[in-house]
Amino acid sequence: MTEPLHILHVTDPHLHAHRDAMMRGLNTFESFVAVIDHVAAGQRKPDAVLATGDLVQDETRQGYERFRQVVSKLDVPVHCVPGNHDSPRIMAEVLGKPPFHFCGSHSYGNWRLLMLNSTVRWDDGGRLEPSQLKILETALHKHPHEHVLIALHHHPLPTGSHWLDGLGLRNSDEFLRIIDGCTNVRAVAWGHVHQAAETMRNNVLMFSTPSTGSQFLPDSDVFMMDSRPPGYRWIELQPDGSLETEVVWLS
Ligand SMILES: [Fe+2]
Repeated sequence: MTEPLHILHVTDPHLHAHRDAMMRGLNTFESFVAVIDHVAAGQRKPDAVLATGDLVQDETRQGYERFRQVVSKLDVPVHCVPGNHDSPRIMAEVLGKPPFHFCGSHSYGNWRLLMLNSTVRWDDGGRLEPSQLKILETALHKHPHEHVLIALHHHPLPTGSHWLDGLGLRNSDEFLRIIDGCTNVRAVAWGHVHQAAETMRNNVLMFSTPSTGSQFLPDSDVFMMDSRPPGYRWIELQPDGSLETEVVWLS
């Protein structure tokens, strides 16, 4: 691999069965289409898409078909993990065949994408069950010379918002212990928090990406909407294991 990989990160589109459905005053379908159209019209072309959950709001097959139809426009592999509003079963049925991939481990040159399922039925917070921790641990040890980008829905680090931090990854200590024990993890990406944040932790870039719909107000102890527009993120993976990212807001 000599060229960087350009990954498009989209998250939390919250699509519905009906294209005219509104959520918090926003048509989530139109907003998602606007994001994908913005990418398609830009100079930079993605090599792959990461979609980190809450792809639908109403757990409907039609919502996933709508997602598939819109993203297919980009004509690249799409790697998906479920969020608390998703149905992992229906999602895997609709988004489980190439170029769509539901969770799992995928290599691109000397980079590996590890897509983890952190959802728990009837809980808006998340947990990595032993089977997911095993997938993580096995992949990290099996491919020690590959640079790894991990993606999941729930935040493994606190946001500083009291209400959101009650809905994060409930066993983040187990997750962080595993990545702390390896030297090949370069970045961890998540959704769920509807806001942009980045921090370096033990040489691993940890970041959240805004929703393709509406955003939550950062640092608020109670649920508050932010006035920021829909957004997405570019992640540029370099052959030497370094990476750069940039959030794009739709004005
Ligand atoms: Fe979520």
